[in-house]
Amino acid sequence: MKFPLSSFGNTLGTSTGIGELMDDLGAALVDKSKIKAMLGGGQPAEVPEMTALFHELVQQALNTPESLHRVMGQYDPAEGEGEFRNAFAAMMNALYSWGVKQENIGISSGGQSACFHLFNALAGAGEQVLVPLLPDYMGYRDQLVSGAEFLGVAGIPRRTGNRFKYELDREAIIMVPNTVRLMVLSRPTNPSGNVISDDDIAFLSQECLRRGISLMIDHAYGAPFPNAMYVATESIWAPHHIHLYSLSKLGLPGTRTSIMVAAPEIITLMQKMTAVTSLANPGLGQAIIKPLILDQSLPKVCRDVITPFYQKKRDHALAVLDAKLSEKVDYAVHEAEGAFFLWLWLPRINTKELTQQLKKKGVLVISGDWFFYGLSQSADQENHCLRLTYSMPEDEVELGLSILAEEVNKYSASKNSKEQCS
Ligand SMILES: Cc1ncc(COP(=O)(O)O)c(C=O)c1O
Repeated sequence: MKFPLSSFGNTLGTSTGIGELMDDLGAALVDKSKIKAMLGGGQPAEVPEMTALFHELVQQALNTPESLHRVMGQYDPAEGEGEFRNAFAAMMNALYSWGVKQENIGISSGGQSACFHLFNALAGAGEQVLVPLLPDYMGYRDQLVSGAEFLGVAGIPRRTGNRFKYELDREAIIMVPNTVRLMVLSRPTNPSGNVISDDDIAFLSQECLRRGISLMIDHAYGAPFPNAMYVATESIWAPHHIHLYSLSKLGLPGTRTSIMVAAPEIITLMQKMTAVTSLANPGLGQAIIKPLILDQSLPKVCRDVITPFYQKKRDHALAVLDAKLSEKVDYAVHEAEGAFFLWLWLPRINTKELTQQLKKKGVLVISGDWFFYGLSQSADQENHCLRLTYSMPEDEVELGLSILAEEVNKYSASKNSKEQCS
């Protein structure tokens, strides 16, 4: 039966990039027989030390009927548990000297949900959410139901041999219309692994201040947790900054917990929207990591365990890709400074087609075009990039990258010989 849909239903309930990705992820988990390598999703790796630590912390949090009741048997306040918010503010102040308080901290049920509420609350019809350096997270692109639109500015790729790095197009950003209501970026960037510099953040912050709008920095992979980041950065607080953190890439996506640091007015806005859409947020994630927030040990655990874990995986994936791709292939990988993806640029190959070919061979990757949106004209790289996740076990990553390289080498060889003939 066909049900007529509202524009809300059409926007969220029909084919979306993030929906397709979650379907692929689900299929990979259910039917492993058809899939040789899952290099498509954003699933965090299983980090044994972290799983052991969480196991201990869950037992600690739920070890008596009373504590179980406290964590699961009652609704939290919509903005999150007071003691947790207070301790989180203290941890950020100790780390970065921010001077934030409990009223600057708010909980949501995951970063995805926090973005949905925030974007639609701040930008409406005739207004825009600016993504200042594309490619950026595909999960933002289908979120606007308020009538607002995304406006994207493509990063400028600076290439050196088989590596490249995006540069912020400052001139284009200065020129965007004054109907922009919010700027948002992920740091490290999903998909490119770029870590935008402190100087660029200062520039964006200044631009936002000049326009009287907020700058949202999404730290889903960043510092101080999970810290899947291989370069050092600063993190600056200002009342027009919105810092978004999540427990997902720490290894707890099932708890659906994100933490926002923002002006009290933004936290209150989020709290009121939470009350309407879901009454309260899940308390389990807060309860599990609370001891690590109270004693402020979470950043150190991440630096000691998570950073080297993913850095080793990154080095391995890069080495495999460089070794397997023929020297005749024109390719460049983005400097992998953070997150857990390689962003592969194949200037002479249509990566949309390649993605489908690889799917048939049991290798799931994400075609780059999903990460370019809100552009007035298509970006040169749009159909020439792939996002490759390296959080899966090393043998799976190696197999997936080998099959990919085989396809790319074959395609390049046939293209080169056709060009020589013509
Ligand atoms: C950059 C970025 N932001 C936000 C999210 C949302 O994560 P969650 O809703 O699990 O916190 C993700 C998930 O992959 C992400 O990659």
